[in-house]
Amino acid sequence: MSEAFTTSTARNIFYGGTMFFLLVFLALTYQTEQVIPKRDKREMLADPNVVAGKKLWEVNNCIGCHSLLGEGAYFAPELGNVVARLGSQEAVMAFIQSRPKEGVPGRRSMPQFNFTDQQLKEIAAFLNYVGQIDTAKWPPNIQG
Ligand code: HEC
Repeated sequence: MSEAFTTSTARNIFYGGTMFFLLVFLALTYQTEQVIPKRDKREMLADPNVVAGKKLWEVNNCIGCHSLLGEGAYFAPELGNVVARLGSQEAVMAFIQSRPKEGVPGRRSMPQFNFTDQQLKEIAAFLNYVGQIDTAKWPPNIQG
């Protein structure tokens, strides 16, 4: 039977397999390109508060303690779903504003950033935007 598996059979399997998986790859790439723009709510980036909030998120290194959609540090709570967890953007703003200046005695806690009202609005708008992204139900529970 071994003579049935010739060099040309091997070549055909190689070319056929390559072609098949190339087509699967292209089909999945096309599907991703169709779906991602709807899932990531890109239109919300037209809101200047969301864009300014992302800047604040970056320059204050929130990700040094928090994770956002799973990426970041695991010292402090996940913030991708914090607006849903705390109930509203106002509650997120109130939490950030209410941090004690000296921190919580005896442990490393959320710092006081002294944001202006406008900055609080921006960071809450950014966290609200992140919460609207369709992550296929991730994280699996509200605790994040
Ligand atoms: C030094 C670490 C640290 C940094 C930096 C930090 N946080 Fe926090 N954050 C915490 C900790 C710890 C908590 C948990 C509550 C507490 O202990 O104060 C928290 C809680 C929160 C909460 C409430 C989460 C919940 O589920 O109750 C929000 C909202 C939040 N942080 C936003 C931010 C934003 C926005 C930034 C950046 C501007 C930031 N944090 C930067 C440590 C940090």
